[in-house]
Amino acid sequence: MSDSQLADIGLIGLAVMGQNLILNMNDKGFKVCAFNRTTSKVDRFLENEAKGTNVIGAHSIEELCSKLKTPRRIILLVKAGPAVDDFISQLEPHLEKGDIIIDGGNSHYPDSIRRCKELESKGLLFVGSGVSGGEEGARNGPSLMPGGSDAAWPHIKEIFQKTAAQAYGEPCCDWVGQTGSGHYVKMVHNGIEYGDMQLIAETYDILKRGLGLEHAEIADIFSKWQDGVLNSFLIEITRDILRFNDTDGVPMVDKILDVAGQKGTGKWTAINALDLGMPVTLIGEAVFARCLSSLKEERVRASKVIAAPAKQPFQGDKQQFIDDLMQGLYASKIISYAQGFMLMREAAKVYNWTLNNAGIAAMWRGGCIIKSVFLSDITAAYRENPELESLLTSPFFLKAISQAQPGWRRVVAQSTLWGIPIPAFTTALSFFDGYRTETLPANLIQAQRDFFGAHTFRVRPGMENDHMKAGEDIHVKWTANSGDVSSSTYNA
Ligand SMILES: *[C@@H]1O[C@H](CO)[C@@H](O)[C@H](O)[C@H]1NC(C)=O
Ligand SMILES: *[C@@H]1O[C@H](CO)[C@@H](O)[C@H](O)[C@H]1NC(C)=O
Ligand SMILES: *[C@@H]1O[C@H](CO)[C@@H](O)[C@H](O)[C@H]1NC(C)=O
Repeated sequence: MSDSQLADIGLIGLAVMGQNLILNMNDKGFKVCAFNRTTSKVDRFLENEAKGTNVIGAHSIEELCSKLKTPRRIILLVKAGPAVDDFISQLEPHLEKGDIIIDGGNSHYPDSIRRCKELESKGLLFVGSGVSGGEEGARNGPSLMPGGSDAAWPHIKEIFQKTAAQAYGEPCCDWVGQTGSGHYVKMVHNGIEYGDMQLIAETYDILKRGLGLEHAEIADIFSKWQDGVLNSFLIEITRDILRFNDTDGVPMVDKILDVAGQKGTGKWTAINALDLGMPVTLIGEAVFARCLSSLKEERVRASKVIAAPAKQPFQGDKQQFIDDLMQGLYASKIISYAQGFMLMREAAKVYNWTLNNAGIAAMWRGGCIIKSVFLSDITAAYRENPELESLLTSPFFLKAISQAQPGWRRVVAQSTLWGIPIPAFTTALSFFDGYRTETLPANLIQAQRDFFGAHTFRVRPGMENDHMKAGEDIHVKWTANSGDVSSSTYNA
């Protein structure tokens, strides 16, 4: 085969995602070679969806590898798990040093860390890429979050950035970082998506049950917010959902059972936050809120025996309250993203990644579920200061959240009096108050731990004396019975 007939990139796995990504890359001027384990699928694809394009096909892994320019670039879009390892081992004998295997599936990041290390030890390069935007995104421009072997990036940059969605004149794709960071960042993206959805659902509940508004009125409010800082895909579709009636004129959303499903990526983010000891409370609450929703029958039984607070008709200025609600939603969203970036900051330390924070925010501005105007402000904050410790202390967000504070507090207080559950709003506010507090009551917790378990504590700066020195683990004889020996044997 002459060099000009060789393909720029190969793709394994011709489910809809794979087919759409191939057609997208073809549109952007790249020659793609397609392969599927069931080889009849390759022929069918070439004769139908890919008819008239530059796409070529292969009937074996060997043939696929022989039809690619070097360094070879091969994207796997197969089911996460053993299938990925299986294809990697089938590919290896046909690859040369410097060739690149890209996993574009929904792999869990620890697998990508492992695969990256294994392949690098054999002289091959690995990329684990988050791909967001579903089937439509794959066809028209997804958000692509590639991370792995740094040396692979220059070889895939052009294909990836041209294939990705474009927003604000830039591709929604940049290099994330090393080993499993691409899939990690995709996981955090999904966790943040859970948080955004929960915040919007709580807002809807406050407007509906608190203020007693009709769906059409609520849709108009979301529609107005779409013109400001909250402009986002999720606000837009919420507006459209609220305006959607069933054939009998009843809003469709009222006919939908209030039991939220989940596929697990929010849960994985929350579990990882606990593992890394990071207070990503909003995503955690969003996952738990779905869990609580699933206890439908138990809730129905409880609703019959536990009385709600007596309903107080809203006395204040409705428009003022709606403006407060918008501020509360915005502030809570800032907290959620600040927590997400805190988690990624810690992950970078623990997993030894150099993460591209500005790039991550920029990648999420298009092609994915959480795309929003807001992400441009996050991108700008990290571009201005790549070493930013927290989004909350960046000049832009510090000002925004300070302005939002009074309204945010009024909304949380009023909704709590109404008895409307707002776990995401309240955890955001509690986190904010904890984060900005110099002295928390953890001193008492330390005293309790030392009292019952001799777990020791450290002295507060300025309070040192001859029996309590800085930097020492101190144990106090709290009662006549408590021992002198500090404990490391039992940890209650
Ligand atoms: C082959 O294609 C089918 C869809 O036509 C898809 O479901 C399957 O995942 C593909 N598998 C592989 C390993 O190529
Ligand atoms: C949906 O029904 C409501 C009344 O329940 C009505 O006011 C509204 O115009 C309807 N919306 C559409 C898009 O037909
Ligand atoms: C961390 O990564 C750097 C380069 O990215 C590497 O030189 C170093 O050895 C790594 N350290 C560990 C503990 O993995």
